Amino acid sequence: MQEKIKEALSWRYATKVFDSSKQVSEENLDAIIEAGRMAPTAYGLQPFKIIHIKSKEVREALQAVSYGQPQIVNAAELFLVAARTDVDADFITEYVERIAKTRGMDVAMLEDFKGMMIGDITSRSEEERIKWAGRQAYIALGMMLETASLLGVDTCPMEGFDSAKVDEVLGLRKENLVSLGYMAVGYRGEGDMFADFIKVRLPLETFVIEK
Ligand SMILES: Cc1cc2nc3c(=O)[nH]c(=O)nc-3n(C[C@H](O)[C@H](O)[C@H](O)COP(=O)(O)O)c2cc1C
Repeated sequence: MQEKIKEALSWRYATKVFDSSKQVSEENLDAIIEAGRMAPTAYGLQPFKIIHIKSKEVREALQAVSYGQPQIVNAAELFLVAARTDVDADFITEYVERIAKTRGMDVAMLEDFKGMMIGDITSRSEEERIKWAGRQAYIALGMMLETASLLGVDTCPMEGFDSAKVDEVLGLRKENLVSLGYMAVGYRGEGDMFADFIKVRLPLETFVIEK
C-alpha cells in the first residue's frame, strides 16, 4: 500500500500537455469527485463548489483569461473549485437541519453548535470568508489530485488566471461563488518535458521539524 501510494505520488505531475483524444471513464471521474465531496471541512460546512465545465466554447473563453494555458482546452475534463460567498446564518441553519435529519437527531440538541458556527463565520469579513473557504477547498483539491494519481489519471491544478474575468465568463458572482483554482483532468500527451523532470522537494529532515 505505502509503495503504491509513493509510486502514484511520484508519477503525478502538473501535466502541461494532455492527449485530447483520450477520455476519462465515468467511474474514474466519479471517484475523483467523490474524494472532493468527502474531504474534511471546518465544521463540515463545505463552503465551496466544484464546477464541471463541459462546454467547449466556455473552455475557450476561459483559456483567453487564463494566460492561454493549453490545459484549459486540451484536457479531457476541466473543473473549477469555487468558494461560496453565501455561508451565512441561513446557510448554517439549513446545515444544522440537514445534520439533524441525516442523523435522526432533535435539532434543539444542535443549538449551541449552530450559535458557535454563526458567531464564528459572521464575525469575518467577506474577504476573510473567501480565504477561509479557499483553505477548505484546497484540501478537497489535494484529495482529488491524489485520488486521480492513484487511478493513473493525470491532472493539473491551476491558479494562473484572472479570477475576476473567470467569474465573469462563468457568471459566478450572481451565484454567490468566486473562482479559486482549476483542476484539468485527462491523460498526458507526447512531448511534455515536465513529465520527465526530477521532482524538486525539500529533504524530509528540513520539511518536518521536531519540537
Ligand atoms: C495552487 C496551485 C496553482 C498552480 N497553478 C499552476 C498553473 O496555473 N499552471 C501550471 O501549469 N501549473 C500550476 N501549478 C502546478 C505547480 O507548478 C506544480 O505543482 C509544481 O511546480 C510542482 O510540480 P509537480 O506538481 O509537477 O510535481 C499549480 C499548483 C498549485 C498547487
